[in-house]
Amino acid sequence: MFTADTYVQRRKILKEKLGSGVVLLIGNEESPMNYKANQYPFRQDSSFLYYFGLDLPHLAGVIDIDDDDEIIFGDELTMDDIVWTGPMPTLQEQATQVGVQKVMAFQKVRKIVQSAQAQRKTIHFLPPYRTENQLKLCRYFQIMPDTVTQHASVNLIKAVIAQRAIKSAEEITQMEIAVNISREMHITAMRLAKAGIKEQDLVGAITDIAIRKGSGLAYPAILTIDGQTLHNHHHHHTLESGQMVLGDFGAASSMHYAGDITRTFPVDKTFTSRQKEIYNIVLQAEEECIAELRPGLTYQQVHLRAAAIITDGLKALGLMKGNTEEAVAAGAHALFFPHGLGHMIGLDVHDMEDLGEDYVGYNEETKRIDQFGTRYLRLGRKLEEGFVITVEPGIYFIPELIDQWQAEQKHNAFLNYDKIATYKDFSGIRIEDNILITSDGSKTLGEPIPKTVEEVEAIRQVG
Ligand code: GLY
Ligand code: MN
Repeated sequence: MFTADTYVQRRKILKEKLGSGVVLLIGNEESPMNYKANQYPFRQDSSFLYYFGLDLPHLAGVIDIDDDDEIIFGDELTMDDIVWTGPMPTLQEQATQVGVQKVMAFQKVRKIVQSAQAQRKTIHFLPPYRTENQLKLCRYFQIMPDTVTQHASVNLIKAVIAQRAIKSAEEITQMEIAVNISREMHITAMRLAKAGIKEQDLVGAITDIAIRKGSGLAYPAILTIDGQTLHNHHHHHTLESGQMVLGDFGAASSMHYAGDITRTFPVDKTFTSRQKEIYNIVLQAEEECIAELRPGLTYQQVHLRAAAIITDGLKALGLMKGNTEEAVAAGAHALFFPHGLGHMIGLDVHDMEDLGEDYVGYNEETKRIDQFGTRYLRLGRKLEEGFVITVEPGIYFIPELIDQWQAEQKHNAFLNYDKIATYKDFSGIRIEDNILITSDGSKTLGEPIPKTVEEVEAIRQVG
């Protein structure tokens, strides 16, 4: 936890931004796998964590801007709780740690909401993503479950995003910790991989580091020889010579800041020349895009720049053809690069996307481009100093997509399907780093992680 002053200041800024009304932030509950006491690992709601700092279930917080009052709601442990799960600080002691003086029993949330409503105060809440919190809001506000999100406060959503998007120095420190643990995980995977072992052997090794050094994985690990499947959570293949491993995984720091790093490396000690050719295009896209980053540039422009670099590279290999600008405008590159260049990262790996992807990544000035591939760009708007984002271009050969486009003769002017057919067994390559936008450019977080062909092969030699 940061010091109480951090949370006091964060709430003060939120109050100033919103100006009036009552903010209700609901923390997460334990989530059972089946029976109540058999739970998934607890993960606090990130906005609750950001403003109220307490990393425990069954809490809520109210910030009454009109009456300049703050309350934390929760329940003291019973003796049965202490017997089964151990003693804990009192609610008052917990509240004091984050600069809040007043505490109330959890069931009082409803009364506070009703009293604020009676006084015609505006009550701001965020859209819930967990059903139990959705149901609480239904009860508090006497609304139906399917209408809860439309009752969420757009002013609060925008204020929270504006604040959480700009990372403070102490948050950057946490994010560097998360990236450095993630770095160790990636180097370990690169060292251990060899033909004959299974993907899950590597998943076990990297998860071990994430748990020992931080608070576990920041998101389910992607570690696969089938890198062409973007979010592949299958880990049962045995690695074979000639294949590549795509590893997209990161640790959460003990304070839950996320690292999100991707590296792709050969199962053998060296890349094949065909793998190297594609790898170097992805690397060029990643490095050139990172070099361009600065405040004021839209991330949509940077995404399209990556698409152009990928198109140029694939043209040089005879996989694409025609005018690069026209190919990118038509969306032909998306056969190989069907996702966005990156996203915000912070307490959540896709930071704040529970609040609405368009609120996080777009605004009046920059609208989402509704075209296959580019549609999945989660962050398009102008970059600002203090943003932390991922840069993660990739090139994939997705047999099903290739077959479909070829059957439709789609983008024939830009795609050499005969040549592309010879790559259908290639899988995919993605390279990803986490970048802080600074006043005049950017800074890649953490210690460098092997990335060039030479650096990756050097690590593979010592494995
Ligand atoms: N790390 C997975 C993703 O960014 O979608
Ligand atoms: Mn990512």
